[in-house]
Amino acid sequence: MQHILLDTDTGVDDALAIILALNSPELKVEAITSVSGNVHVDLCTRNLLMTLEALGVKEYPICAKGEAHPLIKPLVTAAHVHGSDGLGDVTRLLTSTGARRYPDPEPRLTAMSAVDLIIDLAGQYPDELVLVPVGPLTNIAKAMIKDPTRMRRIREIVLMGGAFETYGNVTTTAEFNIFVDPQAVQLVLDFGVPVTMVPLDVTHQVVLTGKRLQSEIGQRNDRLSQFLRDVTHTTMEFHQDREGVYGTYIHDALPIGLLTQPDFFETVEAFVQVETSSDLTQGMTIADLRPGRPHLKPNARICVGVNAEGFLQHFFNRILQ
Ligand code: BDR
Ligand code: CA
Repeated sequence: MQHILLDTDTGVDDALAIILALNSPELKVEAITSVSGNVHVDLCTRNLLMTLEALGVKEYPICAKGEAHPLIKPLVTAAHVHGSDGLGDVTRLLTSTGARRYPDPEPRLTAMSAVDLIIDLAGQYPDELVLVPVGPLTNIAKAMIKDPTRMRRIREIVLMGGAFETYGNVTTTAEFNIFVDPQAVQLVLDFGVPVTMVPLDVTHQVVLTGKRLQSEIGQRNDRLSQFLRDVTHTTMEFHQDREGVYGTYIHDALPIGLLTQPDFFETVEAFVQVETSSDLTQGMTIADLRPGRPHLKPNARICVGVNAEGFLQHFFNRILQ
């Protein structure tokens, strides 16, 4: 059993990652933290708690609210992809009686900040805790600045982020999580605990279409199935307008899959750098992945391949069990 802390800017695919993680018997989700990214951290925190309510979890993991602003840059959000509430505009949906289908959740949060909780758990599980950040790395970087001694005992960081041999999704060269807080990413890479990156190169291979979602849900009419349809609708429409397919990516679920089903994934070691200053290419992740090239000492493992259909089927088997 692996002890993990999931650090999310809970938008649509973050919600799917939370559901997958909590349905993965190989993982013990010790805590879930929030951070500004897809939307402001206040909304991300609410979305995290709303997801846990929709899932009907009995035992809540510890949840903590994280940082509102990146280390240096002003916050950039992705509400145009995830809806103005960050969760596919589900907060606008009404029941037949006019009540909100997804009311504000109980504020089941620890009084600790996300940064302090990360440090605390790193101390409680030395050399065991795996951090899974699926949003900007602000919380993780701040925890490293605040208590480097305890943070050095983190076993591994398995993050969603980066674009290496493919275009970015926020600019031509940058992936969103890296773009929002590139200084935090460089700090984490320089810190020296093992880092694995799951970039767009692989997350863009796993496409969840509306048709597939419907066929997997079938005749089920429970709260979770309704939630899955509701949260994905706005982002599927966004991708339909842009790419002609009613569907979406489930980026943040992939690091969870990598932890529990490593056979679906291929990784290579590399020396990764992040562009932190240029206006044009800020947030770009750079690594020479060509085989046989002279490399600098690797500072990360990069996921370069995925069995997309195998993983997608596994994802459904787990979340709809
Ligand atoms: C990443 O950016 C966010 O919008 C998603 O939640 C995911 O973590 C994909 O680039
Ligand atoms: Ca995310």
